[in-house]
Order: sequence, then structure tokens, then C-alpha cells
Amino acid sequence: MKIIEIIREAVAEFALGKEFAVEHPAEEKMGDFSTNVAMVLAKELGRNPRELAVDLVGKLEGNKKLRKLVSKIEPAGPGFINFWIKDEVLIKKMDEALGMKEKLGDSDFMKGKKVLVEYSSPNIAKRFSVGHLRSTIIGQAIFNLYKHSGAEVTNDNHLGDWGTQFGMIIAAIEENEKFDWNSVDINKLEEIYVDFNKRMEENPELRDRAKEAFLRLEKGDESARNIWQKSVEISMKEFDEIYKKLGVIFDHVLGESEYEKLMPEIIEEAKTKKIASVGEEGALIVEFLDERGKEQMPPAMLVKSDGSTTYFTRDLATIKRRLSDPALKSEVFVYEVGGEQRLHLKQVFVAAVKLWPEETKSVQFVHVAHGLLSLPEGKMSTRKGNTIKLEDLLERAEEKAVGGEVISLGAVKYNELKRSPGMDYIFKWDEALSMEGNSAPYLQYVYVRTRGVLNKSGESLEKVLKDNKEFTNEDERSLARWLLLRFAEGEVVESAAKNFAPQQLCAYLFETAQKFNGFYERNKVIGVENQSLRLALTLLAGEVIKKGLEIIGVETVEKM
Ligand code: ARG
Repeated sequence: MKIIEIIREAVAEFALGKEFAVEHPAEEKMGDFSTNVAMVLAKELGRNPRELAVDLVGKLEGNKKLRKLVSKIEPAGPGFINFWIKDEVLIKKMDEALGMKEKLGDSDFMKGKKVLVEYSSPNIAKRFSVGHLRSTIIGQAIFNLYKHSGAEVTNDNHLGDWGTQFGMIIAAIEENEKFDWNSVDINKLEEIYVDFNKRMEENPELRDRAKEAFLRLEKGDESARNIWQKSVEISMKEFDEIYKKLGVIFDHVLGESEYEKLMPEIIEEAKTKKIASVGEEGALIVEFLDERGKEQMPPAMLVKSDGSTTYFTRDLATIKRRLSDPALKSEVFVYEVGGEQRLHLKQVFVAAVKLWPEETKSVQFVHVAHGLLSLPEGKMSTRKGNTIKLEDLLERAEEKAVGGEVISLGAVKYNELKRSPGMDYIFKWDEALSMEGNSAPYLQYVYVRTRGVLNKSGESLEKVLKDNKEFTNEDERSLARWLLLRFAEGEVVESAAKNFAPQQLCAYLFETAQKFNGFYERNKVIGVENQSLRLALTLLAGEVIKKGLEIIGVETVEKM
């Protein structure tokens, strides 16, 4: 059992069913854990919190399980109760942690639960944008965090492979009877689309042609279907290369086209359940009103006045399938999608609950929104502002980083994950590749340093574990509690997963590296009496950094 759980259990005995917190005090001299239970209860019982804390300390001291674990329990401040963990308990935990290997830092708070993370979701015939890069990196980190929290996780790449824009591509390509597919790549496809779009502004007749082409696609017309299929293949080839580079594998790639067949069903259901109504010009809309009939959000369109379905309809169909298909069915559905789709997804989630109240009862829909990323000017081939050829970014990273792809890729990923996903930011090479600041190369370097210490000592892990007995100074204990009580016990991973916040893990890792460096500067490790314990701490700091980076998809190297 985890230390925090034993404390919680002991405290709960006296909590009269009330909610209380067990946390790490901000200041180390205040102990390893602290609870506010006395303050919570004092209000309830009309007692002085400080006095109640003193009483409760007496009672808690009588708890046998707790006594094995803690060396001291004390009331503090206005009514906190602080706990100090015995040194020998920490040292035993340290040995355990070093033996955990790939399980180190994992939580099990999601055991028995299923989670689906949808991310990346680029659009066919358009280049993979920086927004899709953000979605892919953040989505993968969230996927990993849940995997390391005991959940059964699956992922889905919700490709944008349907919609009226394909009418334009089809119409444009059909203009040229001898269209040569040979040299066509995704850039060319995007050009064709952009060009047709431009011409359409001046020539309304082209608009009708695109509409007609899309209608044919929906009906399964061979020529339209072929062009669509080719566009999908060409685009996927490009996307798959990016996924390979980033180490991303999808269980499901269910694009919007997948849900086309479900459209009539959804529309019927919305009508019979009286969730949709006929709006202006014959469109079918879903309104979002509160009990008093006041509009909470603007209405969403289910069917356009020209009879075609929308992105919104396809998202509802997607949910319908995700609620019933055993391979997709989950308790938590995470959507890693740009912040500009906030309203859209809110409308989708609310409409889904209206449509399927039973099926969505114990289901959580979460939109993890990412902000805008601007790229540095110059060599980067930016076209239309925010689209880049991703290869350029990654190639540039490789040119700039010392140490090849592991370092450059890690730098790009970490630079993304260290901040809250919703933030806008400007990509800066110096920041991403810095060897001193909060960056992947810095953490990778500190890991290499910890390995170097062990190698230099000539000791084996087994020997290190056997010989370490006690702390000889505060520095050692402080680093031990930081590594053990936060990471090894699963706290960091659990919190980052619960909050859909990989940046929490990054912040922890950066602080770990800083703490280790401080420790290493102040304490000789090799050739001192306490060598074993210090080596064990060094080793564990390295393992924690390695494992933490692995969870966010960043590899480590043994030499740098
Ligand atoms: N393809 C969309 C885009 O690039 C993102 C899809 C987001 N997911 C969803 N279920 N709507 O903007």
C-alpha cells in the first residue's frame, strides 16, 4: 500500500465521513505529509481547530499501522497535522523503487477503466499543420499517462476525409482529362484545392460543379470515388511518415468518411427525439436552450438547407459508434483538438447527452484544447502562415542539435509538452535545444550524468542496494523523499493524467534534475563512507528522469 493511502486511511477513521486533504507541506521542515482534517471537523463540531488537532494527534499515535510508518506526528499552525516518515521506511522504499524497473512511477487509479484518446486528426489533401503536430504530441502524452495509470487505453485518429471541400478537388482534377497522378504529393493536392477555391470566388459556376462532384462522391460515382481514394492514399503516405518519426501508432484510424453511412440514422433519431428542428431556409438545427428557454449556445446545424450533412453531424455519429462499439467504448473520451473548436465540441457533447442520456450517463467527454504555435521566420517554408512542412521543422532540429534524432525529436516534443496545452507560444530553437534550461537535452544530459557516476564507481546495482542503510544528512533525505513520495508512489503520473496535464510531469522532471544537480554539487558520491546510499539516490534520480521522459515520448541516450 502507498504511504499516502495508509495515512488517509488512519485519518479517515476520525473524519466523520467528511472530505479532507492529505498533501505535502510546502516547507520541508513541516514534515512529509500534512492533513487539514482538524480544520474541517472543527467547523462541524464548533471546536477550536488547534485543540482538535492536538486531540487527533493523540488518537493517530495509537494507530498501529501508522506507527510503523511515521516517526513523528505534530499539530501545526492553525490546526494542521503533520507527519514525518521514518528514515528506514524511505530507505526500504528506495530499494523497492530501484527494483521496479518499467513499473516505476506508475499509478493504478484508472484500473479497470477504459479511456479513448482522439488526437492528430489531420485533413486529407491538406498538409499536416503545426496544430496537428501539437495535437499529436500532446495526445500521445495523454495516451501514455493513462496507460501508466492502469487504464485500458485506445486511440483514434479522426481524419478529416469527408466534406464539401472534396467536391472542389474532384471537380478540379476532372477538369484535366489526362491528369497525371505520378508526381502528385500532398503539397500538390493542397495547391489544387487552394487554386480552385480562388477561382470559385470569381466564377460561381465552379461552385455548382464542386457541389455536383461532392454529391457524386456521396452516391459512390466511380470517377469521384477514385479521386477521393487517391487523395487519401497520397495524404496517408505523408502522415504515416510523420507518425513513424514521432513514434505514434494508432489502434484506430476512423475518419469522418467512416460515419457517412450513419448519417440518416442520426438525423432520424434527432427528429424523433425532438432534439432537432427545422430552422431558416429548411436547415435542420439543434438548439441549446436552458429550462427557461434562454439560449445557452448558438444553434448547431445538423443538415444544411441544401440537404448536405455537416462536420457536427459526423461528430455525433462518431460518438454514437464510440458508445456502442466494444473496441471503442470507454468511460473517458479525450479530444485533443485546437482551441478554435471549443464551441463546436461543446455543442457536440451537449447534443450527444441529449440524444443518448442513458448511454452517456457515466461517460466523461473532455476537450483538451491546444493554442496557437507560431514558428520562427526564415528558412522554414511557411505557406499560408500556419502550415509548415513538418519535415522541415524536424530536419532543422536535427541540424541544430548535437546528438542526432533522439535529441532533436525529444527537444521538439518536450518544448511542446512543458507548457499548458492551451497556451499560445512562439517556437524558439534556443529554448528547445538549451542545455541549461527546462528542455529535453538538459534532462537527457542529467540522466547521462547519473549513469556516468555509477559507471565510475565500478559498483553493481545489487551491491548498492544491499549496502545502503541510513541517511547521513538532510540533502540525502530531501532528494529521497522528492523521488519516492512524489514519483515512485505514482503521485506525479496520477495528477498529470487526472488533469490532462503533461506539463505537470515536465515540471516535476525539471525540478528533479535541478535537485539532483544541487545534491551532486554539495555531496561527494564516490569514495565516501556513505557511497552506497548516495549511489542509490543518483541511480534513482536517473531512473526517474528516464521513466518520466519515456512517458511523454522522449527517449534518453547513454552517452552525450
Ligand atoms: N480534422 C479536424 C481539423 O483538422 C480535427 C478533428 C477534430 N476531431 C473531432 N472529433 N472533430 O480541424
